[in-house]
Amino acid sequence: MKYVLGIDLGTSGTKTVLFNQEGVAIASATVEYPMYQPHNGWAEQDPADWWHAAVETIKAVLAKSQVNKDDVVSLGISGQMHGLVMLDENNEVLRPSIIWCDQRTAKECDEIHEKVGKDKLIAITANPALTGFTLSKILWVRNNEPDVYAKCRHILLPKDYVRFMLTGDYATEVSDASGMQLLDVPNRCWSDELLQILDIDKSMLAKVYESCEVTGHVSESAAALTGLSPKTLVVGGAGDNAAAAVGTGVVEDGKAFVTIGTSGVVFAHTDKLAIDPQGRVHTFCCAVPGAWHVMGVTQGAGLSLKWFRDNFCAAEKEAAAQMGIDPYELTNKEAAQSPIGSNKLVYAPYLMGERTPHLDPDCRGMFFGLSAMHTRRDLLRAVMEGVTFSQMDSLSVLSEMGVAPETMLACGGGGKSPLWRQMLADVFNLPVATTVNTEGPALGVAILAGVGAGLYQSVPEACRAMIKRNPAQEPIAENVPLYAKVYEVYKKLYQANKELFKDLAAL
Ligand code: XUL
Repeated sequence: MKYVLGIDLGTSGTKTVLFNQEGVAIASATVEYPMYQPHNGWAEQDPADWWHAAVETIKAVLAKSQVNKDDVVSLGISGQMHGLVMLDENNEVLRPSIIWCDQRTAKECDEIHEKVGKDKLIAITANPALTGFTLSKILWVRNNEPDVYAKCRHILLPKDYVRFMLTGDYATEVSDASGMQLLDVPNRCWSDELLQILDIDKSMLAKVYESCEVTGHVSESAAALTGLSPKTLVVGGAGDNAAAAVGTGVVEDGKAFVTIGTSGVVFAHTDKLAIDPQGRVHTFCCAVPGAWHVMGVTQGAGLSLKWFRDNFCAAEKEAAAQMGIDPYELTNKEAAQSPIGSNKLVYAPYLMGERTPHLDPDCRGMFFGLSAMHTRRDLLRAVMEGVTFSQMDSLSVLSEMGVAPETMLACGGGGKSPLWRQMLADVFNLPVATTVNTEGPALGVAILAGVGAGLYQSVPEACRAMIKRNPAQEPIAENVPLYAKVYEVYKKLYQANKELFKDLAAL
């Protein structure tokens, strides 16, 4: 039996899973790390934490599984997208990574639009300039930390930094590179035109591969550190969403998934390039060679619930620890006791600004309609409903573009909650299913690793063989119009406060 390894470098932690060649998870390990927020709207992480977590989780799964290291033929890495890692000439990290949810770069986005022109930028990168994307972060460092920029020789994405530490190769792949905003997304290569207009040296960028191509193998030093064999191949891997698509079998037209991780995503595969001229949803290369995906992003999805849990649910956390269960099991039970609409309380999940559909780094979260009758369970339910409404905003834009899925797969931490899945089914008015294997992005990159090592012929073929669905949760007919009414209020909340958010940001 051969084995493949999937490493998923998330925002809250790194999860590594060893699969056999039939896609069965053999062993799994997770190491968590912090996110630093030195100012309101900033978000940074330490690349050393990612590398440490990768090493520790690889060692742990090899030890738990007792598999012969030579049978681990290949590995893939999935990662939180857009983060900026800068290395100097000695490959030392120059500053903490500015990660995907950081919102400090509004000025740089204006600079990009001025220099390149918004229409040209959308034609090349398929997206308008966004604070979340890597390009504006690169320009922020150049504008604000010129000494750091002068020393920078290599620019890598989070998962590609871990690849570099594992292999010594400066490599990336099309799905994650799409989120840097320097890739010519229709042609799947770096845009020389953009690099020239913005005066960025191409030699700083990594070589671009397709997601299932082999980019190298584990180095002798990394092999000694992790317990892997230096023969283990490393494939391109994928950005976390493109990886989750492979891990849930969303690799053909008509298929879509919704995920609630730290961020939330509604993602649909497309064999033909489709771009929203207003840039409200992202078009990226996907992990299937020659295809793309469109996706809408909620910045603060699982993050909203985690924020609420960490600040207001100490009792649940303590009880869960004593009972040996996940605190979310208890918060779900509480939220289920509040009715649809949370007793007329509406939450907007803009803790880290918002992407789809508002593209607004300045907006912030809100509870609207607080009354003395509300209890914590209403607030909990309102948080879950608000995130779901935000994902409905994404689905509405996809529908406008003619991308109309017939069912949804739910994944990510939030997708594990039957209550949240029922909300998604009722708000989307679509059946919502899950896959039997819940390893999502880690399985996705393990499948890519299997294709790269020749265990499978193609990504869709591997998915057809390995991914099985559980029965879907259908929308409950009487709930659909109840949620629809609250959604109407939710949609007006942003519009009504749009200008006020700017006043707040200017304080
Ligand atoms: C996608 C995005 C997030 C991150 C973190 O554009 O920013 O989904 O990849 O999960």
